[in-house]
Amino acid sequence: MDRLEEFIRGLPKAELHLHIEGSLEPEQMFAFARRNGIELPFADVEAVRAAYAFSNLQDFLDIYYQGARVLLTQQDFQDLAMAYFRRIAADGARHAEIFFDPQTHTERGVAFPVVAEGLLAGMAQAQAELGVSSKLILCFLRHLSEDEAFETLSQAEPYLDRIVGVGLDSSEIGHPPAKFARVFAAARAKGLKTVAHAGEEGPPDYVYQALDLLEVDRIDHGNRALEDDALTERLAREGMTLTVCPLSNLKLCVIDDLVVHPLKTMLALGLRATINSDDPAYFGGYLGQNWTRTAEALDLSRDELVTLARNSFTGSFLAPDEITVHLAEIDRYVAGFA
Ligand code: ADE
Ligand code: ZN
Repeated sequence: MDRLEEFIRGLPKAELHLHIEGSLEPEQMFAFARRNGIELPFADVEAVRAAYAFSNLQDFLDIYYQGARVLLTQQDFQDLAMAYFRRIAADGARHAEIFFDPQTHTERGVAFPVVAEGLLAGMAQAQAELGVSSKLILCFLRHLSEDEAFETLSQAEPYLDRIVGVGLDSSEIGHPPAKFARVFAAARAKGLKTVAHAGEEGPPDYVYQALDLLEVDRIDHGNRALEDDALTERLAREGMTLTVCPLSNLKLCVIDDLVVHPLKTMLALGLRATINSDDPAYFGGYLGQNWTRTAEALDLSRDELVTLARNSFTGSFLAPDEITVHLAEIDRYVAGFA
């Protein structure tokens, strides 16, 4: 391990943009398929990996929804979550705020409580065994209707004390945030935080809509906000956290090469950017890989890395006193890293 990798590995950090269904590794896909008696359209793990060549978001989503079909039982969801937490604990993560897509499961007859109980059990196990804390964010699939989002929110009702917020994911173009303004208002009225994918493939206008119509607490991705100077200035002025996903952007052809990734520019513009993995089993790396590969490609300085780590906690939904503890740990770590 070189010095950069070592520094990054030990740096206390949080992950704020992770779809738990996107942490399903091909090996696990086969193991769950076997134990659940499900036929996969792939001969082996290599054939699955070979299929992970995407030219845009939709290419990926088609295969990602197909992969999720192997998840049936509460134990599957717990095991999936725990495998993810083991990975990020090894990357020096202290906290994660994970997305789940209940509609991907309820649509095929897996009940909401099976999914929620399994994930919550995995989160409790990660806290107990790894010391990694976490929060759960329910994402509405934006290619589905507003009515279906309302139905999902009502299914979540018994779990709202254990779900920190709602998000918006899936096919961005053609499904603007405005479509979900009312269900987000209902979620906010229940005391939930709100986040939304915006500006990954969609235009800056979708970022404005996420801010003005959904009143989000964070923007997921936000890359295309940089095309609009007034929007960029507003995001910086308001201290809006952007959950940026470099390896995802590369795999989904949002960028052509990591060396042209806008992360360094975002920091220079005063944007509160963070590094995240999105769907690590599909995009070639977990949190640590996203950090090291981006740091190398953009030649990020020690100060920039520390800013990114601080942003991952200040942008989290942890309580202020918990954030203070993590920030102090970062300071201690940096002071002690000779
Ligand atoms: N669902 C899982 N990953 C996603 C992404 N990067 N964008 C939109 N929806 C997603
Ligand atoms: Zn995402």
